[in-house]
Amino acid sequence: MTSTVLLLHGPNLNLLGEREPEIYGSATLEDHVATARTAAEGAGLTLEHLQSNHEGDLVEAIHGARGRCAAIIINPGALTHYAWSLHDALAAYDGIVVELHLSNPNAREPWRHTSVISPVADGSIVGFGGHGYALAVEAVRWKLS
Ligand code: DQA
Repeated sequence: MTSTVLLLHGPNLNLLGEREPEIYGSATLEDHVATARTAAEGAGLTLEHLQSNHEGDLVEAIHGARGRCAAIIINPGALTHYAWSLHDALAAYDGIVVELHLSNPNAREPWRHTSVISPVADGSIVGFGGHGYALAVEAVRWKLS
């Protein structure tokens, strides 16, 4: 197992910065990836990143991390709430899993209160906006130590 961390983003997160800024803030996806990369490098970890609007791409990225990446940090977007294929792929992954959300889905519409990802994550970081990326990398570093 290497010290590589795979950061995954699901649907619509490519629109960060433009999409509902009152909820998700004005930072772009690139800004968040840069935050995560800086935090990872500071912790001696290498960061890989993929964003996709297609569930299958994320399933395949999780399969590709098996036996290769030490951890996955995943913000699955709306797939969080119903994508059992992501649940099963993460259940078959042997490394650390951190679920990450910019907003706090538990404080929003009732349909966002269910996460099919949480049961297969080591932990979840929600509601801290872009600072969540540094917190997620710190959680990985701590779990690996
Ligand atoms: C989100 C929360 C989800 O409910 C929503 O569908 C998103 C973004 C977040 O980061 O707060 O796309 O994952």
